[in-house]
Amino acid sequence: MDLWSLPLSLAHSNSTQNACGDNDWAVPLGRYINQCIKAGLNRTEAPNGDRLRLISEGATFRVYRCREMTYEHDGTHTSRICVLKLLRFRPRGVDTDRFPNDGRYRHAQLESLVKEVSVLTVPTLQHHENIIQLLAYGFGTELGDNVDEDLRSAQPFLLVELATQGSMREFLAAHPSMDNSDLRDLFLDVSSGLEALHACGVVHGDLKLDNILVCQDSRGRFTAKLSDFSHSITSKVESTYLGTEKYMPPELFGIQVKPIFQHEQLLACDMWCLGVCIFEALVGKDSDTAASWQHSPAELILDDDDLVAKLSLLPVDRFNLWTKVLQSLLHTEPMQRANARCIRSLLDAEAGKVTPSVGAVDDSILSFLEVSAPNLIVSGNLD
Ligand SMILES: Nc1ncnc2c1ncn2[C@@H]1O[C@H](COP(=O)(O)OP(=O)(O)O)[C@@H](O)[C@H]1O
Ligand SMILES: [Mg+2]
Repeated sequence: MDLWSLPLSLAHSNSTQNACGDNDWAVPLGRYINQCIKAGLNRTEAPNGDRLRLISEGATFRVYRCREMTYEHDGTHTSRICVLKLLRFRPRGVDTDRFPNDGRYRHAQLESLVKEVSVLTVPTLQHHENIIQLLAYGFGTELGDNVDEDLRSAQPFLLVELATQGSMREFLAAHPSMDNSDLRDLFLDVSSGLEALHACGVVHGDLKLDNILVCQDSRGRFTAKLSDFSHSITSKVESTYLGTEKYMPPELFGIQVKPIFQHEQLLACDMWCLGVCIFEALVGKDSDTAASWQHSPAELILDDDDLVAKLSLLPVDRFNLWTKVLQSLLHTEPMQRANARCIRSLLDAEAGKVTPSVGAVDDSILSFLEVSAPNLIVSGNLD
């Protein structure tokens, strides 16, 4: 596994977990159930193994393409293609000796799941065009017999809408000669999603090309949507920003023990990450430049102050717009970085659009981010 791409919360999971007993993971499991019920989500009997196809594996989830069937009382049925994200209860490609306390690992995974559900069920975000839609929830025990051992356990899963084009990283690789206006529109989508998220007081916490998905509508138009909120910071309290090493902003780069940041500083970390995503998308085609940015954009930006010189390698049509955007995002000083609304307005102006933006967010809406104490403690053997 590429350690540069592994979210830091997992790379350092031994040192970051609370001391807790083996069974304490039942508490976040109860919170997950509570949150889903509170949001009025449907609990689904997931598709059986015949209809599941593994499409990707991340650090938190195994991701399957599936067909969900809904049976009516009159014997008719409907179906839809969607994505099933099964929470990992076993780490991927990591020696299990590093995780002697399985309960701790499950606890951390379930906490990530609770975050994902809390963010995806905030009403303003639930139906936002640039945030992936959560459809239903369920448990692995409901997946039937015709599946592998992992799936037969009580692992929670989420059903989400399918992004037919996969992650933005995959999409860009499949469309190496995408024109500038299409790229601009995709990042306008990303900025609009990030603006909505930030307006709700949520810091994404791990924004990268792999956590942006690309959908295609019936008219063939591509839309970028934010995904993977398992590392999000869902309240305005001070917190550390973990993220992924390759995307570390200069204020965090090379620091072993991550400092506690105020909310505004955390938002600024997301904005740096957006800058890195755009830079990666722009230089993706230029293999020499891309190779030199393989490991740490922050280090390279700091080593070479002249970002414009780097960007001058880009074709002229890309240079003007993106120089302005990147200079305002990849600022060494966090408080000088543009916010998501500012980037969205800038891209709107270039595109001649007025993307609706989320205004001040009502407190009752934000209560969705306050995960209630569990009153559904699950007992019995869930393995
Ligand atoms: N709704 C979706 N449609 C298509 N592909 C998806 C979808 N959700 C996730 N993926 C793929 O699975 C990968 C991992 O999913 P993600 O939600 O980021 O989990 P993790 O937290 O484990 O990284 C993504 O990078 C993407 O390639
Ligand atoms: Mg991910």
